[in-house]
Amino acid sequence: MEELKQEIVLTGDRPTGRLHIGHYVGSIKQRLRLQDEYAVNYLMIADLQALTDNAYDVGKVRESVIEVLYDYLSCGIDPEKTAIFIQSLIPELTEFTILYMNFVTLARLLRNPTVKNEMQLREFDNAVPIGFLNYPVSQAADITAFNATLVPVGDDQLPMLEQTNEIVRHINFHFNTDVLKECKPILSKITRLPGTDGNAKMSKSLNNCIYLSDDAETVSKKIRGMYTDPNHLRVEDPGKVEGNPVFTYLDAFDPDKTELEEWKAHYRRGGLGDVKVKRRLEKVLQAELEPIRERRAQFEGKPDRAIEMLIESSKKVRKVAQENLLKLKTVLGINYEVDIPPIYTERL
Ligand code: TRP
Repeated sequence: MEELKQEIVLTGDRPTGRLHIGHYVGSIKQRLRLQDEYAVNYLMIADLQALTDNAYDVGKVRESVIEVLYDYLSCGIDPEKTAIFIQSLIPELTEFTILYMNFVTLARLLRNPTVKNEMQLREFDNAVPIGFLNYPVSQAADITAFNATLVPVGDDQLPMLEQTNEIVRHINFHFNTDVLKECKPILSKITRLPGTDGNAKMSKSLNNCIYLSDDAETVSKKIRGMYTDPNHLRVEDPGKVEGNPVFTYLDAFDPDKTELEEWKAHYRRGGLGDVKVKRRLEKVLQAELEPIRERRAQFEGKPDRAIEMLIESSKKVRKVAQENLLKLKTVLGINYEVDIPPIYTERL
């Protein structure tokens, strides 16, 4: 076997719902590859970050932690290769965050393009919860607590990595140290799949997602109901491939690219019906989802084992964060175990 690369890879998801095929092509497939390439992989279920805009919907976050865990395991994320853990089970992450907050200004957070965008979407204005505004700082904590140098993310997360590296450089410079490591993104090629209705985004509220946990019949029904080119009324009419989600999904999943290109040309010319194209998609997609369903069936009936694994793994991971926190505290001058004269430590 080839030698594994030594960089530390860390990424995470906010548990706010089940994962869909957009997550699968956008990030999970990449993680499957990375776990075979790199020696150290962390995968965080970022429940605290999910709470920053779902604090009154804890039930959803809680349930999603388990759903997301099942989705990971079903897809073949291997706990032997990837340490899956729950963010809130690592209290050190919160300590890192509090320490970093002293080095980041309000103006800087308000300038973060992703935060800015999301604030507008949610119409937060001045009523933005501090926890929400601060999530780039907490993400810097997630990354640096494990000395991660590679972070697989979508491009909307690049401002978070920039913020992370700013904190890293700032602290390293001012405390004349190299305890903190800068990180780099690993961007996935496919960042987003449209919804089955042709909407640019798959989202639960639009009811346009195909979930990894959907059974075969549900997937089949969703494909049959997919939006295509609205002007492609008769089979012999020329059809549009661009903006046609059936072809976008085929681009993402179909292994036979040559034949797919022929089909696209045929569709454009006219004479290729939507029903046929959808059947092709159905075949390709079910073939990809079937092994995922089979794996899910193995543990879905026994949640205890999966959850136990998650808690055990979180405990192990926590030790790393503890060690790194102590190093940072020493640098910042608040590791009292080494800094305080004995007479004071006796009183602690
Ligand atoms: N913000 C990320 C998202 O929305 C999730 C996340 C939290 C994350 N902490 C992270 C990603 C650390 C990478 C590294 O998907």
